[in-house]
Amino acid sequence: MTEGTKNIVVTIDGPAGAGKSTVARAAAARIGLPYLDTGALYRAAALKLKQAGIAPEEGERITGALSSIDIELLPDGRITACGEDVTKAIRTPEVDRIVSAYAARGEVREALISIQRAQAANGLVADGRDMGTVVFPDAELKIFLTASAEERARRRCLERRAKGEEADYDVVLKEVNERDHYDMTREIAPLRPAPGCIILDSSDMDAEAVTDVIASLAGEFMEQNRR
Ligand code: CDP
Repeated sequence: MTEGTKNIVVTIDGPAGAGKSTVARAAAARIGLPYLDTGALYRAAALKLKQAGIAPEEGERITGALSSIDIELLPDGRITACGEDVTKAIRTPEVDRIVSAYAARGEVREALISIQRAQAANGLVADGRDMGTVVFPDAELKIFLTASAEERARRRCLERRAKGEEADYDVVLKEVNERDHYDMTREIAPLRPAPGCIILDSSDMDAEAVTDVIASLAGEFMEQNRR
């Protein structure tokens, strides 16, 4: 591959449980680009703010606190906040429940946007809610990955049970629907397909099939650009 043709930005947005992180990580490895998990940044911010006793409504305190929380994504995939490894702590059902309320706040989004853009110098695959609409509007390839709420809840239950946690399908379905509602109706950077994106419904596709589609679209783009 010619030097320079690989430095593309691929964005994968979509609702909770659509399989974004699995597919984004696999596609990034296949294409040979770094992977950026922006949900992890929002989770780390929510966890630390909650621990500090700061509610989502406390805008000024949020800005002050986030300026010193210092969230870092390490090359090996771990994430730290204030130097503490929070990789596991951000994946609990409690963080699942609180993260969207913090993520709806402009103060939180503003603090995290520069961390995200700073990672893109050599191209990347980024997954989240507003990658194609707000953070990387000029991305070369934009995907909106979705699936039915029922299928997403089923996947989330499997994920939790695989970690040894309990998961009641009806409760998880309700949580998935609530988080979708929050993410799609918030005023700032709501979840929606970006202009020019490709919409992929993964209800009947496994992660490998979705990864194949994304990697081949990225490959086509790079091939065209080489000519
Ligand atoms: O993996 P899952 O889809 O459950 O969530 P995630 O990608 O880890 O993101 C957790 C939450 O962070 C989402 O429900 C959004 O509220 C928020 N988020 C966001 O607002 N913008 C992003 N770019 C990424 C996540």
